[in-house]
Amino acid sequence: MSQRPVSQAKKKTPPPKARPPEPPPLPWGGIVEEYRAWLDIPDSARAVTLLEGNTPLLDAPRLSERVGARVLLKLEGMNPTGSFKDRGMAAAMTMALHRKAKAVVCASTGNTSASAAAYAARAGLECAVVIPAGAVALGKLSQALAHGARVLSIEGNFDRALELVRELGERAPVTVVNSVNPDRIEGQKTAAFEILGVLGDAPDLLCLPVGNAGNITAYWRGFCQAHNAGATDQLPRLLGVQAEGAAPIVLGKKVDNPQTIASAIRIGDPASWASATAASSESGGAIVAVSDMQILEAWRRLAAEDSVFCEPASAAGIAGLLQEGPGDAETIVCVVTGHGLKDPEVAMAHAAPPRPVAASVKALRDALEI
Ligand code: F0G
Repeated sequence: MSQRPVSQAKKKTPPPKARPPEPPPLPWGGIVEEYRAWLDIPDSARAVTLLEGNTPLLDAPRLSERVGARVLLKLEGMNPTGSFKDRGMAAAMTMALHRKAKAVVCASTGNTSASAAAYAARAGLECAVVIPAGAVALGKLSQALAHGARVLSIEGNFDRALELVRELGERAPVTVVNSVNPDRIEGQKTAAFEILGVLGDAPDLLCLPVGNAGNITAYWRGFCQAHNAGATDQLPRLLGVQAEGAAPIVLGKKVDNPQTIASAIRIGDPASWASATAASSESGGAIVAVSDMQILEAWRRLAAEDSVFCEPASAAGIAGLLQEGPGDAETIVCVVTGHGLKDPEVAMAHAAPPRPVAASVKALRDALEI
């Protein structure tokens, strides 16, 4: 590059009165405030918010090239607690407070517990979370503890934990904030509105991981609501993706002992099974399964090539897209449901460890061969 003459460089200096750009006039108020007219939440309910939502829709050039269509990533790991659960939790906690609840409870593979703990603390509600012992990723567990939830771990899997929590909700004065609570689905559907807002229309295909099946249900509800209101002409085809060892919907029967490296979606009997099946078939889409190897390969490439670090479960939607291909879709959105920092153990187990070298420039040069 040629060097600029000094006089030209001087011209580029801003005049002394110039200020940095103003921030946007109306700051984002979180999903309840921004979408209240579209949600089943009364005006009188005071919003509980950590300013969730308004997450980026990021182009993924390398992935797009491989797929042969434009792929965008909905970065739900950018929510306050690092997963999409914050949308549903904002709505559920707003309604719990509105109905004068004192305590909330949930079963969780991790992210729901982290989000419930944070939003309950904000709302001033007691929070208890029930988790499968030894099966929750470190980042998520540390969040639930830090936010002051009572964390109970059972010898049993997520499905058993949810069964217990639902029964507890019937017998004791606690509000269940799993996605069996319709307020959660209401909140989570706002991600569909945001995608419509950015693209101006629905994508041709939406790919996302499926665990307890609340999120696929919520997206479909959001897109259909916008479509019925005349806000979009098109509806997306939905591709829901389960892990092979935890794929009850694909197999058409419960899985007693679900297994996958993607601990977030290690679920054998999804609560929203029927609505997920309905959503995928009404949309002309499908629910498919991918292996742990496919998940890890998609996860690794997403971080190394498109610079998005997500937790393993969040890469399942992308692995499913790579397996099934785009079909006739030109614009595809993959929902990246949770942040990579949620599960540092899997990340470390699948990377080469740092290489120790002497603390000298020579040692660095030798190691780097420069
Ligand atoms: N991705 C992540 C990162 C999740 O944490 C979950 C679910 C899913 C995808 C699947 O979403 O259940 O709506 O089909 N996590 C729940 C939890 C089960 O307890 O945190 P879903």
